[in-house]
This record gives sequence, structure tokens and C-alpha cells, in this order.
Amino acid sequence: MNALPPNNCNILLEAKGLKKSFFFRNSMSTVLEAVDFSICHGEFVSIIGASGCGKSTFLELLAGITKPDSGRIYLEKADITGQTGLLGYMPQDDLLFPWLNTIQNILIPVKVKNGDIIAARKKIDELLPVFGLQNHATHYPHQLSGGLKQRVALLRTYMCNARAILLDEPLASLDSLTRSQLQDWLKEIVELLKLTIILVTHDIDEAIVLSDRIELMRGHPGRFGKSIDISSMGKMDIAAKHALKTDIQAMFRDNG
Ligand SMILES: Nc1ncnc2c1ncn2[C@@H]1O[C@H](COP(=O)(O)OP(=O)(O)OP(=O)(O)O)[C@@H](O)[C@H]1O
Ligand SMILES: [Mg+2]
Repeated sequence: MNALPPNNCNILLEAKGLKKSFFFRNSMSTVLEAVDFSICHGEFVSIIGASGCGKSTFLELLAGITKPDSGRIYLEKADITGQTGLLGYMPQDDLLFPWLNTIQNILIPVKVKNGDIIAARKKIDELLPVFGLQNHATHYPHQLSGGLKQRVALLRTYMCNARAILLDEPLASLDSLTRSQLQDWLKEIVELLKLTIILVTHDIDEAIVLSDRIELMRGHPGRFGKSIDISSMGKMDIAAKHALKTDIQAMFRDNG
């Protein structure tokens, strides 16, 4: 099953035939197999799947952190398999450096790439209010709430200037109120900054609220099962969202 966009849109990022195995406890285990995926410019795709089905491994392959056994990854038709630094990537356990303040943490990708620090500082000053961080520019991570830390990590990922951003459960550690506030905020900045996002989440409600499309991943080995085109469903009221959530839960029971 291919995880492909619904229409004939302008494809930004594409994965073809990805396979990934790990050697663990004296044997090889295939974590992902025959994984095809595409995302269009400006699309927001969420990936949902059971724990251990290979979601983080898939993002790591896209980000070039690990290399596939076979298959290729293309960014605007250029082969980027195994290359890091081309996509913005916020790992599942993204940590801010405790000895750096907000601005210093956000500047890391610019420094790593030997970028223009003065231009980046100007951009950060413009973006701090957009990310709700204007009063926390010189705070250190231990002085920030969980939600604020995630905003700093997101702004840091955004500063990679990447064509697409990969987010691995960015809101998972937050309490439900902060989480729903950040979901609303994330939706706004995605529209404002016209971002292309791949989000891994366990939260079906979050995926429904944020996504143009949801891809269900099943495990052993991990591959995409069903695709749900949210963008074609129009504005949903609470009852419609609840019905869709129930449908998705049923798909998991049938295909998970
Ligand atoms: N470096 C590694 N070496 C050996 N096995 C690994 C490695 N990385 C991941 N795995 C295994 O691959 C499988 C998929 O892991 P992955 O982290 O991609 O799952 P996931 O879908 O992100 O799970 P979760 O929802 O819990 O984050 C798991 O069984 C995991 O133990
Ligand atoms: Mg994971």
C-alpha cells in the first residue's frame, strides 16, 4: 500500500521502496519493508501507528540519520538518501542544551551549518513573538515550561530553513490543556509560514485537527496501510470528528 497524496499535486518529498532492518540479539529484524510515501508542497501529513511499528525509524530515514537497506528518498526529484541537514527534524526525545538560553539553542542549526548569524538573529527576533517566546529569549531550559520548551525546539527546527519539517511526537509529553493550545498554535503557524509537515503522533484527535492527510502504519514489518484524506472532508463539527475517530480506531482493529 502506498502512502500517496490524493491529487496530482506538486510532490516535494518522496520515498520509494524503503526497507530497513536492524541487527539485534544475534538476529536481523526487518522494521520497515516496501514503504512508499509522498508529500506535496504545503501538505500536512500525520502518521499514526502502534508503538514499535517503525514510525521513528521512517522519519530517521527521511532525515538521513540512518540509511535504508534498499529504496531511495527524493527531495524535488533529487536523490537525498542518507543525507542529513536537508529536512528539519525534531526527534521524539528532542532536548534543548541546558547550558544554552533560548536564543542560543535556536541558533544551533545556523551555527552547525556555518550560516549567517547576524541574519539569523534578525529572523529569530521577528519569529520569537510568532512562537510566543518574546518574553523568554534569555531564559534557560530549566526556566521554561514543557510547552515553551517544545516551542523553542520547534523554532530551532524551523531555523534549519528546510523544505519540509519532520516532527516525531512533539506534543506527547505535554498535559492535555497545553497540548490542545499548542495544537491550535501549530495549525496557525503552519498556515502562516506555509510549512510542509510530517507529524508522527499517537493522538488521533490531534491528527484529525492538524492534518490534510493521515497515514496509518502497521507493523512487523512496518508499512503504510490506510490513507485518510482529511482535506477533502471540509470543515468538520465535533460529531463528524468523533465519527471519523471511531472509523480510524476501527481501521486499526482491522488492519493494525
Ligand atoms: N537502532 C536500533 N537497533 C535495533 N532495533 C531498533 C533500532 N531502532 C529501532 N529499533 C527497533 O525497531 C522497531 C521500530 O522502532 P521505532 O522507534 O521506529 O518505533 P515507533 O513506531 O517509533 O515506536 P513508538 O511509537 O514507541 O515511538 C522497534 O522494535 C525497535 O526496537
Ligand atoms: Mg517513535
